[in-house]
Amino acid sequence: MKSLGLVLFLVAAAHASSDACAAIAASISTAGNVYWPNSTAYTLAIEHWLLSSIQEPQCVVEPSSAQDIGIILNTVGTTRTSFAVKGGGHTSNQGFSSTTGVHISLAQFNYTTLDAAAEKVAIGGGTKWIDVYTTLDGTGFNVVGGRNPSVGVAGFTLGGGYSWKSNAYGLAIDNLLQVNIVLPNGTSTIASASKSPDLFFALKGGFNNFGVVTEFTFRAVPQDLVWGGHLSYAAADLAAVNAAVVAFEQNNTDTHAAVVHGITSLPTNGTSGAPFPAVQLFYDGPDLPEGMFADFFAIPAVSSDWSGPITFLTWSGADGGVSDLRGVFHAFSTLPHTPEFLQDVADELSAFAAELTPKSAAYLSIAIEPFMTNALSNGNATSASSAYPPVRSPVLLPSNIFFGYTNATEDDAFHDAIARLQANIVAKATAQGLIYPDAKGGSIYPNYALAGADGAHVVEFYGAAHLGEMRRVREQIDPRGVMTLAGGWKV
Ligand SMILES: Cc1cc2nc3c(=O)[nH]c(=O)nc-3n(C[C@H](O)[C@H](O)[C@H](O)COP(=O)(O)OP(=O)(O)OC[C@H]3O[C@@H](n4cnc5c(N)ncnc54)[C@H](O)[C@@H]3O)c2cc1C
Ligand SMILES: *[C@@H]1O[C@H](CO)[C@@H](O)[C@H](O)[C@H]1NC(C)=O
Ligand SMILES: *[C@@H]1O[C@H](CO)[C@@H](O)[C@H](O)[C@H]1NC(C)=O
Ligand SMILES: *[C@@H]1O[C@H](CO)[C@@H](O)[C@H](O)[C@H]1NC(C)=O
Ligand SMILES: *[C@@H]1O[C@H](CO)[C@@H](O)[C@H](O)[C@H]1NC(C)=O
Ligand SMILES: *[C@@H]1O[C@H](CO)[C@@H](O)[C@H](O)[C@H]1NC(C)=O
Ligand SMILES: *[C@@H]1O[C@H](CO)[C@@H](O)[C@H](O)[C@H]1NC(C)=O
Ligand SMILES: *[C@@H]1O[C@H](CO)[C@@H](O)[C@H](O)[C@H]1NC(C)=O
Repeated sequence: MKSLGLVLFLVAAAHASSDACAAIAASISTAGNVYWPNSTAYTLAIEHWLLSSIQEPQCVVEPSSAQDIGIILNTVGTTRTSFAVKGGGHTSNQGFSSTTGVHISLAQFNYTTLDAAAEKVAIGGGTKWIDVYTTLDGTGFNVVGGRNPSVGVAGFTLGGGYSWKSNAYGLAIDNLLQVNIVLPNGTSTIASASKSPDLFFALKGGFNNFGVVTEFTFRAVPQDLVWGGHLSYAAADLAAVNAAVVAFEQNNTDTHAAVVHGITSLPTNGTSGAPFPAVQLFYDGPDLPEGMFADFFAIPAVSSDWSGPITFLTWSGADGGVSDLRGVFHAFSTLPHTPEFLQDVADELSAFAAELTPKSAAYLSIAIEPFMTNALSNGNATSASSAYPPVRSPVLLPSNIFFGYTNATEDDAFHDAIARLQANIVAKATAQGLIYPDAKGGSIYPNYALAGADGAHVVEFYGAAHLGEMRRVREQIDPRGVMTLAGGWKV
């Protein structure tokens, strides 16, 4: 590390983000790096799953230690420089892990360490799930992690984390034992159920409001071979698939089984395709019970890659890389679905496909996630365990709306359209009694939510009581508002 005197001198002299970059370059450890615009390392570090999530910072800083992160946070805090911290770069909102100021890359916090005896897994804050699953493959252990392996561990977990294993083990955060974090004042510390429990509570759903997480320690869960597949169906079979999904929600009792239901419209040659159903079916074990998923197999699939027993890594698939699309996400959570509501969802999607196909729509989809009734309340977690969700029983089922498109001039049009689609669906769900009272929170999953004036509000994620707790923790650990210089959901 360079001398402290030099750091203070440079910090005092810095008024713009380029000065902050220079100050950081002069003060972080020699193993840390600073990358400048148009270099290959810079371009790679600011990459996002969606092109529309990218911004061009003054510099990329790549800390090599928690101490480096402390120096960076102190520098941006003192100079009031906007900054970003990026985990896996899968946010759909611009400015959440991108900035025109100082971009913090956690590329050197990329590791997965299994302690088999203690049944714990420590994962660096810049790791993607694909690298976790690759490391754990064949060990007999796994963690409750992301379904899409290209997603980052950090954002996924700090937002909650719905997994293939959530029916059995709850959210990712329900399996978190400890978090190593650099606080907004540059001090690194640990939060767990026994050490700083209030901070631990707030972090479980609270994203980057409380500092930069360098390491997550998860409980290890046993992993044997699994079954899984993606089955897509003809548009004409939508009602049959909706019925199978609802029957699974109502009647499945096996926590090893999980389903995700997608309703998708693919614009082709200027024609909006009729919404067609597709499901992902997953069974967490080598022996598939007789009759499991029978309703889904009874409907003729257009395509299917159903197979098993296979490894969990094979099921997860390769890192899909980036999408090369622009895009917007939005979300709504409901009580268990009805066939009528799922038809309404498809009808709304169809109407918006007609509106957006003449624009540059490439992929229009709504994912329905039929978790089991007690998925979030069958372990030790209670509503007091984590900031998100405020309600664990009844289970509120998250849904994700995704519009992918190509024309940057149409950013506002797609943003506006997804906000209207979400409002229409929520109105229909409300009329059918499927929305839990908004004031209690839990009606929107923050990891899928649209930002902006017409997007989501944090009270809808956490509810008023949990939000109050989070604000109390924030005022205590970040009185200078350093983390308000980073974008993202702010409490
Ligand atoms: C293809 C795809 C599939 C998905 N599948 C699922 C799914 O199955 N289940 C589910 O629950 N969600 C899913 N998501 C949503 C996903 O969980 C969120 O987009 C998540 O925030 C991504 O995490 P990230 O680290 O990749 O994102 P980033 O964009 O890097 O970060 C997201 C937010 O977290 C903050 N952050 C990142 N790293 C840190 C850190 N180390 N310390 C403090 N703050 C940090 C960032 O500042 C930013 O505000 C999916 C998203 C995509 C695009
Ligand atoms: C980066 O490259 C682009 C295109 O070559 C150029 O227009 C831009 O000025 C460069 N930016 C910097 C900061 O060098
Ligand atoms: C993390 O390390 C793996 C190899 O273990 C590598 O393939 C991957 O690209 C690295 N990820 C980042 C974000 O640096
Ligand atoms: C659930 O199972 C019961 C008993 O077999 C059956 O009567 C009911 O119709 C099933 N629910 C659905 C939605 O299929
Ligand atoms: C789209 O149009 C092109 C050119 O007219 C044609 O070759 C192609 O078959 C069409 N594709 C579909 C899916 O209709
Ligand atoms: C629940 O708590 C008990 C008792 O503290 C502990 O033995 C068990 O491992 C916990 N289970 C989970 C899923 O954390
Ligand atoms: C992008 O959208 C704008 C505004 O709708 C339109 O004028 C332009 O032609 C589009 N560009 C392409 C390549 O389609
Ligand atoms: C940083 O903040 C933490 C939490 O408020 C506090 O315990 C610690 O003493 C602070 N460190 C410094 C150097 O001020």
